[in-house]
Amino acid sequence: MKFFVDTADVAQIRELAETGLLDGVTTNPSLIAKSGRNFLEVIAEIASIVDGPVSAEVVAMDHETQMKEAEKLIQIASNICIKLPLTLDGLKTCKKLTDRGIQTNVTLCFTANQALLAAKAGATFVSPFVGRHDDVSWNGMDLIDDIRTIYDNYGFDTEILVASVRHPVHVLEAAKIGADVCTLPPDVLKKLANHPLTDNGLKAFLADWEKTGQSIL
Ligand code: E4P
Repeated sequence: MKFFVDTADVAQIRELAETGLLDGVTTNPSLIAKSGRNFLEVIAEIASIVDGPVSAEVVAMDHETQMKEAEKLIQIASNICIKLPLTLDGLKTCKKLTDRGIQTNVTLCFTANQALLAAKAGATFVSPFVGRHDDVSWNGMDLIDDIRTIYDNYGFDTEILVASVRHPVHVLEAAKIGADVCTLPPDVLKKLANHPLTDNGLKAFLADWEKTGQSIL
């Protein structure tokens, strides 16, 4: 499973990129607003930190303007992935861009039929939002399961990018289903490494090591 980080916070991206665990970055207009930075500048900086896809979202609703926005965004760097809303105009833009070999991420996917359309439009990634489904008392992970089944039935190449991830159990369940990518808030990515028994075990090992009076270096 690939791990993307879902943020426009450059310091966090830099820190996680240094672990070697980061395969890409996703942003959205809300995350850009939260960063307080200029959209084009922050996307350029992020794209210089990670080698993998960096999702930059268009904000126009109509196909023609989406194409113009995409043209501008793809000039920033070769690893820019154009993020498009799951609307008919967004899908039309997705098809045009993927036909030209440009990476695309179709976002705000809430049904398996929407994901089917994204795959037919040739999307590189589809982003089903599990947490927002959970928020309205629907099991978001059922959606991931349905999309996996449908994509496998027809051999679609579109990668399932699990989005709106809120906690490590989302990652575990998505991995068991066989989702291709999870995009994680930085704190959730860090939590994946945590376990109190790891901490306790390490504390005991280090205490015993201290008693030996030895040093490796
Ligand atoms: C995905 O690409 C979105 O940016 C993100 O995962 C949305 O998450 P949220 O529902 O926590 O805002």
